[in-house]
Amino acid sequence: MERAGFRVLAAIDFNEEAIQTFKANFAKDPLALCKDLTKFPPDKLAAKLGVNDVDVIVGGPPCQGFSTVRQVDAANHGSRVKRDKRRYLYRVFLDYVAAFRPRVFVMENVMGIQSAAKGKFFTLVQADARKLGYRVHAQVEEAWKLGVPQKRRRQLVIGVRNDLPGYFSSELKPSSRAFGSPTLWDAIGDLPPLAAGEGVEERDYDFDRRKHFLATRNETAKHYLNTVLEIADAAKLTAHRARPHNDRDLRDFARIHEGETADATIARGEKMEFPYDRTVFLDRYTRQHRERLCSTIVAHLAKDGLMFIHPTQNRSLTPREAARVQTFPDWFQFPVARTHQFRIIGNAVPPLVAEAVGCEVKEFLDESRRPGYEAQIPRGTSQSLLTSSPTRKEAASDLQRLARLDRRALRDLPTQQFLHGWRALLSLFPDLHPDNARDHGNHIVEVSPDQLALPGFDELVSRRYSRSGWPVALELIGNEAWRRFDAGELTPPEFYCVEAQRAGLRHKTEIRNREAAMETKA
Ligand SMILES: C[S@@+](CC[C@H](N)C(=O)[O-])C[C@H]1O[C@@H](n2cnc3c(N)ncnc32)[C@H](O)[C@@H]1O
Repeated sequence: MERAGFRVLAAIDFNEEAIQTFKANFAKDPLALCKDLTKFPPDKLAAKLGVNDVDVIVGGPPCQGFSTVRQVDAANHGSRVKRDKRRYLYRVFLDYVAAFRPRVFVMENVMGIQSAAKGKFFTLVQADARKLGYRVHAQVEEAWKLGVPQKRRRQLVIGVRNDLPGYFSSELKPSSRAFGSPTLWDAIGDLPPLAAGEGVEERDYDFDRRKHFLATRNETAKHYLNTVLEIADAAKLTAHRARPHNDRDLRDFARIHEGETADATIARGEKMEFPYDRTVFLDRYTRQHRERLCSTIVAHLAKDGLMFIHPTQNRSLTPREAARVQTFPDWFQFPVARTHQFRIIGNAVPPLVAEAVGCEVKEFLDESRRPGYEAQIPRGTSQSLLTSSPTRKEAASDLQRLARLDRRALRDLPTQQFLHGWRALLSLFPDLHPDNARDHGNHIVEVSPDQLALPGFDELVSRRYSRSGWPVALELIGNEAWRRFDAGELTPPEFYCVEAQRAGLRHKTEIRNREAAMETKA
């Protein structure tokens, strides 16, 4: 976030080693607090900080409670639900959002959140955040598209305070630090070889090896070392310490070819010594491949390294190698025991991903604050058309007409006619995000009527999907807009018509101001 231009005010985790690591690397900067968030309410933080206005809150409430595996033993249902408090940590996160009312919040979670309890929690997170007055959407982050040499995919839930105009872009751009498509070897190939159990916490780099490595690799490796790992800023090589393995595992490692999992090794006719059991997943033993993406670095690495066997050496990856695959710069220190190093590294959002997300947030905030930004009106749409109530009624009846059409009729509509209705939709519902128009989940709620006193309109929009907030009756229009956008029939500014949204937001503000004035009079 700092690299994206933010000033970090505070960081909280209840894990001592995480806080210790944070302090070792960001000594002067923010308040780093070792607190259990379930017992540390937002007002206490506000008092410590002396501020209660922040731009952004980011966090990764743990996902174990959402895990799909837990559901089979009913732990995610009924009375046993209370046993796993972690599941509700997202609520604690949202308590912070409710208290500080940041302009944007970003929550990262594993992909499992989508399917956990049949999607119920994925819906809850978004519905609860929407109730707090945030425009919420979910997007998937694919780390390798952002220059991370890893197969990592994670779920982001992003909320933008409803009063801010604009749509957060769902297409993350790689940070300017990223370059090409690095593979595992680009990230770790220069590090000194080790045998299992070998290595020390701090040592000199092997500069000859690095020189040879850089001479034989392409620009991507050079760039990765210099710009992502910032090797020039690291005086010593730290945390390059291989964990020991028992002899049986080491003999089995030697049987596994580069890029293979144990099942492929066995299929090749090789005999493995570990107790062979078909019910146990055989990718538990994986030798990574130099010229591919590394498997997702996870906190489980702290338990064993069997899924992360070095591509050419007979051992699992060291914490430094895992940190490099996670894009941590080489100067970043992990002054804790090796097990904790692995866990902290595996738990982290890769810095390069965080930077890309941060830049997107920054861009959004800068744009929403641009002077005159509020005043822009789309061509062909006069201001009064979208803000004064009689013409809002017109917009509403336009939308009603569109909502009566079936899929085919919507498809046959000329572009301008469709766009007219689409703009009406975005101005009447400025709190919806077009990106949400395709993932609604199943749960539907009844919402109280809007301010539009128009026969039939309230019925049209009162049934909403909890997850996306979209009126059920407008689902087909959302799908059709996506179809046209995907086919190139709608340009991005037409699809994400910020001007229409802004007009809608202005109208809401006017109503709010009018109500406030009336209350004051009364
Ligand atoms: C997925 S990790 C995210 C780590 C880090 N914030 C990042 O994004 O790189 C989740 C973190 O939540 C912390 N955590 C879990 N329960 C907590 C609680 N009740 N209070 C504070 N931190 C908690 C864990 O210690 C862990 O470091």
